[in-house]
Amino acid sequence: MGKLSHSDRQWKAKWITDGEYVFKEKKISPVPMVFRKSFEISKKVVSAELYSTALGTYVFTINDIRVGEDYFTPGFTSYKYNLQYQKYDVTHLLREDNTILGTVSGGWAVGAFVYSRRNRLFADRQALLAELIITYEDGTKELVATDESWEVSTEGPLRYGDLYDGEEYDARISDESIKYHKAILETLRIAPSISKAIGVPVREHEKFEPISVNKVGDELIYDFGQNFAGIVHFSINGKEGQQIEIKHAEILKEDGSLNTDFLRSAKARILYTARDGQQEYAPNFTYMGFRYVSVSGIDEKEISIYARALYSDVKEIGSFTCSNEMINRLQENIKWGAKSNFVEIPTDCPQRDERMGWTGDIALFAATACFNFDMKDFLKKWLRDMRSEQLSTGGIPNTIPSNGFGFPTTMPPVAVDFWGDASVLVPWAVYQATGDKSVLSENYDMMKKYVKACKNWAGLFSFGKHRYIWHTPSTLHFGDWVAPDVPKMSQWQKRSKWTATASLANTAHLVSKVAGILGNPDDEVYFRNIYEKTSDAYTSIFTDGNGKLLEEFQTAYVLPIHFNIFNEAAKEKAAENLAQLVKANDYKIGTGFPGTPYILFALADNGQKEAAFKMLMNTDCPSWLYEVKMGATTIWERWDGLDENGNCPIGDDGTDTMISYNHYASGAVGDFLYRRIAGIEPVVAGYRKFRIAPLVGGGLTFARGELNSPYGKIVSDWSISENRFIIKITVPEDTTCHLIMPDESEKFLSAGEYSFECNIYC
Ligand code: BGC
Repeated sequence: MGKLSHSDRQWKAKWITDGEYVFKEKKISPVPMVFRKSFEISKKVVSAELYSTALGTYVFTINDIRVGEDYFTPGFTSYKYNLQYQKYDVTHLLREDNTILGTVSGGWAVGAFVYSRRNRLFADRQALLAELIITYEDGTKELVATDESWEVSTEGPLRYGDLYDGEEYDARISDESIKYHKAILETLRIAPSISKAIGVPVREHEKFEPISVNKVGDELIYDFGQNFAGIVHFSINGKEGQQIEIKHAEILKEDGSLNTDFLRSAKARILYTARDGQQEYAPNFTYMGFRYVSVSGIDEKEISIYARALYSDVKEIGSFTCSNEMINRLQENIKWGAKSNFVEIPTDCPQRDERMGWTGDIALFAATACFNFDMKDFLKKWLRDMRSEQLSTGGIPNTIPSNGFGFPTTMPPVAVDFWGDASVLVPWAVYQATGDKSVLSENYDMMKKYVKACKNWAGLFSFGKHRYIWHTPSTLHFGDWVAPDVPKMSQWQKRSKWTATASLANTAHLVSKVAGILGNPDDEVYFRNIYEKTSDAYTSIFTDGNGKLLEEFQTAYVLPIHFNIFNEAAKEKAAENLAQLVKANDYKIGTGFPGTPYILFALADNGQKEAAFKMLMNTDCPSWLYEVKMGATTIWERWDGLDENGNCPIGDDGTDTMISYNHYASGAVGDFLYRRIAGIEPVVAGYRKFRIAPLVGGGLTFARGELNSPYGKIVSDWSISENRFIIKITVPEDTTCHLIMPDESEKFLSAGEYSFECNIYC
């Protein structure tokens, strides 16, 4: 065991590895290792518990039965600091003669990960640590722990396992035919704290049967009808040595074949070598983002195939439906975007060679995520890694875990607007949803340090009010990332002067509120002062002082309006100007990542409800419903991911074919569906007091939002019939609800079920 590692349990087991395996190749993952231990039991077993972790990802079988249902254990963490272990009850798996097999593939710790495909980041090869504790009926205990008595081999049937590339499996190899040798003890290069898993394990979820199969050239093309993150399961009638290749993709080409152009270096395939007869297979050490697969090397009648979604077991707690079927599909797509990207950590996308914990994406999506899913444990685990990886300068790496991904964390005192804001926005969103102050107190020091870093960074090389304009080289920021009204990445980044300054005001404001909640009045004043000074700088340097930007674009209006950077009068004017801009753009979206979550709020909350609804209901590109019109089953990274003919018009535009059809970020509009259309919003974090204030418009004749709050189910269910607005409401025990009807009449309600009506003229 590494010298400085400490753990929340005493391990008698030792880290072991395969001393004969030398892994030096670059940009690929190591050959999987199989560790074996056989032992006999002669007494009656009362219980047996397996504690296990690895560098690499592991799966155990005991007597050929898989232990547990989790995928990608020990989970994705910042391994240098935090490594999780799992505990499994394996009592039911033991017999008299037992064989325990642990397969460890490279995973995130040793395998090739991040798009530069760096490998061996935390260890030169895989390592395993496990203890099986057996308790007998007579009260005695026995320990089977990893040590030199275990055997190991790299000759197992799993020939290759890589998160991006997929698996290669040779079913002709049986455990009896493998040559094992003695494992050796391993001294780890890193000394993480080893603790019981606190995250939410990845499990199998929805099952998809193919909705069609077509023969295109030599390949069978299966369509599962939904884009998602997961794996295929197949069973075949095979012949010894027959090779079957299964490739995965999100879209098809015009000729009906698979379009894998945007996967970049990710091979996303299963290469399976069959033995004779009937056999089944499903990968364990990889996952793909896909809707379609191609199968070659076998006839359609000899294979049956289905797919399973894989994602962290976050519980669904919210639902939204309304009278517009396209909006309902949008809501489904938002949920699928989330499910596909909650795989151990919040990722950007599940298909190409990224699947990384990009901070900006979840910073902006967290509020929507918290309406749909119970995110607390999942995000708290991720935030622990963020705290561990915060730079001494206060900056936050752009991906957490950074896993060897540098940019631009090597340049002190870097802080990156909106991406680093995840350190504030994510805890804040979890707090709003749960009322749990621990998520604030745990992350309080990190937030303060981050916002101070932003302020210092903004103040460099400038004087007077300009010290609060964050104008550092735009190449260090992502700016108005993927804004569809300017085509180039450098143009998105050039908008960082506005996005970064607004981000500084907003995070300072939120940290000031957090300080107040946690009872730190000095900090409250300190951060409020940053918020006020930054707001003043934004107003006086970027606007005419009366809500008109000197250089206009949608995001530059949205952020100061929604973040209360402008005073009331200027805010109303700014919303008018934004509405003009939106109208001039035919109610199409012009915002990148930072503006998209807030644009409808900025309009609707400031007298421009019509414009907000026109934008939401728009079906022309770029808009949310354009994607739905084009058959999207998830949220796209780029608004113009497909043209009206269903082809991708983007090509290589300098972003290294950055085109994904499963990126949740712009699905952040989900927050508006719950908080404005259904109208459910916490007044006190955690919903002890909440408001229901439905926003009627867009031709909707009914809407229903349902949320399993920490206190129980909240329902807002309204409909319109013949100029009457009727609402049915559920208020859970121990909460109060402030109902505001469309005619502005109000009610204060305690627990119960209610129905109210008023006149409405749409
Ligand atoms: C990712 C994004 C991420 C961005 C930041 C992309 O490659 O997919 O979602 O936030 O890079 O630059």
